[in-house]
Amino acid sequence: MSDYFFLIVGWLHAMAAVAWLGGSIFYWLVLRPAIRSRLIPEPVTRFAGSEFNQLVTLSMWILVITGGVLMFNRLSGPSASLPYGATLGLKILLSAWMFFLVAGRRSKRRTQFPQGPFRRAVNALGHINMTIVLGAIVFLLSDTLRMLVERQLGNN
Ligand code: HEM
Repeated sequence: MSDYFFLIVGWLHAMAAVAWLGGSIFYWLVLRPAIRSRLIPEPVTRFAGSEFNQLVTLSMWILVITGGVLMFNRLSGPSASLPYGATLGLKILLSAWMFFLVAGRRSKRRTQFPQGPFRRAVNALGHINMTIVLGAIVFLLSDTLRMLVERQLGNN
């Protein structure tokens, strides 16, 4: 039973991670060039931006909740080790940075003077580049965690 529970939790975690990072890559490589060259009408840009914001918010909540469950499961099991804890600590730090980038952008948007929808969309996309870099490193650290688990279990 608990195996299936953690399977679902891990699956939700991975889906949220893929949605956030994949969405950001799509925004950066496909939508942003199209917006900049004014190929896309403003209402579509605004709609895509607000829908993507909702996706990011949902993904962040899912990542924090499921990440917490996965972390306590790993740290209380036989796969816990110092390298695992250190790698996880680094991963949490970089994840927090990603969350702050999103939160910072939103609070800045609330306090700024009114801008046109086009300017707002371009600003919103500015930080995504950093999210992609951090997200790619977080993915690598997640794969490292898995490798450390397999190594630790192999040693036992
Ligand atoms: C509070 C933040 C987070 C915590 C506490 C957390 C924790 C964890 C833990 C404990 C695992 C299991 C690793 C293992 O032992 O196999 C994991 C897996 C993973 N995490 Fe996170 N994570 C967080 C945020 C993120 C973020 C922001 C991303 C990417 C954007 C991410 C992507 C992944 C991926 C891709 C996996 C592998 C999933 C799988 O193969 O099933 N995590 N995470």
